[in-house]
Amino acid sequence: MTLARRLLRTKPTERIVAEGGHGEGGDLKRTMSLWQLTLFSVGATLGTGIFVILGQAVPKAGPAVVLAFVLAAITALFSALSYAELAGTIPVSGSSYSYAYATLGELVAWVCGWCLMLEYAVSVAAVAVGWGEYLNSFLRSLFGFTLPDAITRSPGHGGVVNVTAIVIVLLATWLLLHGASESAKANAFFVLIKIAVLLFFCVVTFTAFESGNLVPFAPMGVAGITAAASQVFFSYIGFDAASTAGEEAKNPKRDLPLAIILSLVIVTVVYVLVALAAVGAMPWTEFDRNNTEASLSYIADLAVGATWPGLIVSFGAVIAIASVVLTVIYGQTRILFAMSRDGLIPRVFQKVNPRRQVPIANTLIVAAFICVLAGLVPLGHLAEATSIGTLFAFAIVNVGVLVLRYRSPELPRSFRTPLFPATPVLGAIMCVVVMAGLAGVTWVAFGLWMLVGLACYFLYGYRHSRLNAEVR
Ligand code: ALA
Repeated sequence: MTLARRLLRTKPTERIVAEGGHGEGGDLKRTMSLWQLTLFSVGATLGTGIFVILGQAVPKAGPAVVLAFVLAAITALFSALSYAELAGTIPVSGSSYSYAYATLGELVAWVCGWCLMLEYAVSVAAVAVGWGEYLNSFLRSLFGFTLPDAITRSPGHGGVVNVTAIVIVLLATWLLLHGASESAKANAFFVLIKIAVLLFFCVVTFTAFESGNLVPFAPMGVAGITAAASQVFFSYIGFDAASTAGEEAKNPKRDLPLAIILSLVIVTVVYVLVALAAVGAMPWTEFDRNNTEASLSYIADLAVGATWPGLIVSFGAVIAIASVVLTVIYGQTRILFAMSRDGLIPRVFQKVNPRRQVPIANTLIVAAFICVLAGLVPLGHLAEATSIGTLFAFAIVNVGVLVLRYRSPELPRSFRTPLFPATPVLGAIMCVVVMAGLAGVTWVAFGLWMLVGLACYFLYGYRHSRLNAEVR
């Protein structure tokens, strides 16, 4: 077989689906309902973006940050529709990695899986760093003290090792080792708390709403809105998390597409309400001056003229961000599970503990990797890398929908993206546009990450792919 044909070989969709759920030593257990899957995606999405990055985006767009959230939601929606179609057609655990393997071939699938590591493992490290910052804000409001910088910051940022970030990763890992069902129940509880806290934020800050704060609405014009949209796009990352749970969903063909779209709708409504409440309660020019990580707590306190509302908001953030860590680590382990089953990474990642029905070694390796990143690397670097990798994976999913519709029109699809082919084409274009807006240094880091990924593929995956045994 020529090199080009080997790189472009696809894995038949029927076979991907037939292998679903089976690992080495045991199978994953189908326990997750539509409700749990939706909350899983919301759990993975709603976190640092709204609690931290909103405050940083307001100085760019002014009160029109509300429109930036809508614009980012539209970008996400196109890709969400494509995710929904592929998740309903190929309902397995590998998310866009598996979809790319079925449509665009092994090399693109590998590249996609490698990008997903940015979306999942690297983003969770960024989110864990943000968790430490809100934990400190919570402790300050409640007890008047904060943990020392040495254990809450990375080296180079005034710290030695970010122990708080490591602690939240270890707590989430401990929960995940108890099983997907237990983790989903804990996540559902966390998600309800975080939505309740954000609604509480809206209620208290709407009492201080001044329509004058919204004038001028877009002081930096359209350019400001698009720049803010690129930044807040981070807050939508994670709506696709349900697509990593395909092999543990009770009725994946029906529930995965619904969970993906529902979660995006829920977070968009919450984000727009929170953004509107925030800019209505505090003049947008004040955001720059009070650009603390815990800006929502600050605004809530300001609106009421007391410190208890900020305490509640900080508590919500601690819970919110913890549930992102939990769900995103889960997603990363299931993507690696699928890649390992295909032979592209070592077999240890597909070993399932028969009693707990959890890939234990996989989970521990992922946790160790994330602990190193979260303990040693500052948040800004990690968040930028996350966005570019995610957008690349989203673009591949949009192209995958086009390819699969033309190549296998007969496949049963439980959800079809409307306005085909406009939706996936626009989805792919919008991903490329948002990627183009990212900093040059992020592109360089992405290029290096890809080179390392390709080296790993040619040294290991290419030679161990399970498709090698079949087609010579
Ligand atoms: N969307 C996730 C968050 O905002 C990554 O924390």
